[in-house]
Amino acid sequence: MAAITYELIKTCKQSGARLGKIHTPHGSIDTPIFMPVGTLATVKTLSPDELDEMAAQVILSNTYHLWLRPGEDIVQEAGGLHSFMNWDKPILTDSGGYQVFSLSDLRNIKEEGVHFRNHISGEKLFLSPEKAMTIQNALGPDMMMAFDECPPYPAEEEYMKASVERTSRWAERCLEAHQRPSDQALFGIVQGGEYEYLRKQSANDLISLDFPGYAIGGLSVGEPKDVMNHVLDFTTPLLPKDKPRYLMGVGSADSLIDGAIRGVDMFDCVLPTRIARNGACMTSNGRLVVRNAAYARDFKPIDENCNCYTCRNYSRAYIRHLVKSNETFGFRLTSYHNLYFLLNLMKQVREAILEDRLLDFREAFFEQYGFNSP
Ligand code: GUN
Ligand code: ZN
Repeated sequence: MAAITYELIKTCKQSGARLGKIHTPHGSIDTPIFMPVGTLATVKTLSPDELDEMAAQVILSNTYHLWLRPGEDIVQEAGGLHSFMNWDKPILTDSGGYQVFSLSDLRNIKEEGVHFRNHISGEKLFLSPEKAMTIQNALGPDMMMAFDECPPYPAEEEYMKASVERTSRWAERCLEAHQRPSDQALFGIVQGGEYEYLRKQSANDLISLDFPGYAIGGLSVGEPKDVMNHVLDFTTPLLPKDKPRYLMGVGSADSLIDGAIRGVDMFDCVLPTRIARNGACMTSNGRLVVRNAAYARDFKPIDENCNCYTCRNYSRAYIRHLVKSNETFGFRLTSYHNLYFLLNLMKQVREAILEDRLLDFREAFFEQYGFNSP
């Protein structure tokens, strides 16, 4: 019995987007979905009760960070990530592949794995497909990711080809090392950059290994939005219709809509919570930087169309004051709003798919948001 199943409810007649449900050992997830990021077993500034209240259905955490601190053995002793952090809904962990490449310098990629230095202490470390599985099996998320290489953009074709082939060999080693396939679903990660034949090769390699879910990696690494959309145009059709598809590291409102239109089911990104801590808010009229002097006497909510706790109770002027004074509560309020905004956006996307009008929704959203992409 697989740890998760994907139920396709319907396909939007207007856009081709998928409405579905992922059934996991910790409950079901309505898709398309946005997953708030809780890197260190906490979605920064927010409690699980608050995440529940804003209708978060699944959160993401990171192998790399939890391995370094507090250590997966401690999380396992606590009964796993769910009980350690008091979140009883689904959890997904990333494998550490991406973090090794984005956070560490002095890394040395070998067939057996990656040698690198701890980004905090400078200590020498080694991460491999087997090690990434051991850690994720100890952490105990419902969904976990294969150990992959996420090459930079742009990358030479020759490098990308060698990297894709290594990521496929690593994926096979991950499947072999995975100890809990009956309650933890391991996702394969399709790489290949902007090269269509390499995305095809990567997808075919991984599909032959029969993962319960597939991620699309190596995007949102600095390429223009139209390149990302183009890659999705030819990559999602390569993936099985009866498995979930997860676009890694994507969290801007426009890209969530454009990804869903191309058949993506799951998204995650630190963007909403990271910019919140700089006082930047996502709104239906685009980004609002609440620190700006223009809001000093503005007693309207962050977003007049938002029904979140922050917008129902607090003004731009108050939040600006807190953020400028470095008051923790200010960051809690902006983080709450930004996550609510994206979760609510995905809810509207699901309703639009159900009613076969996602392209109309996109047009109306972009018109107000003040941004249009091809
Ligand atoms: N997060 C964002 N992109 C990637 C990727 O390509 N691989 C992994 N493992 N995580 C990611
Ligand atoms: Zn709000």
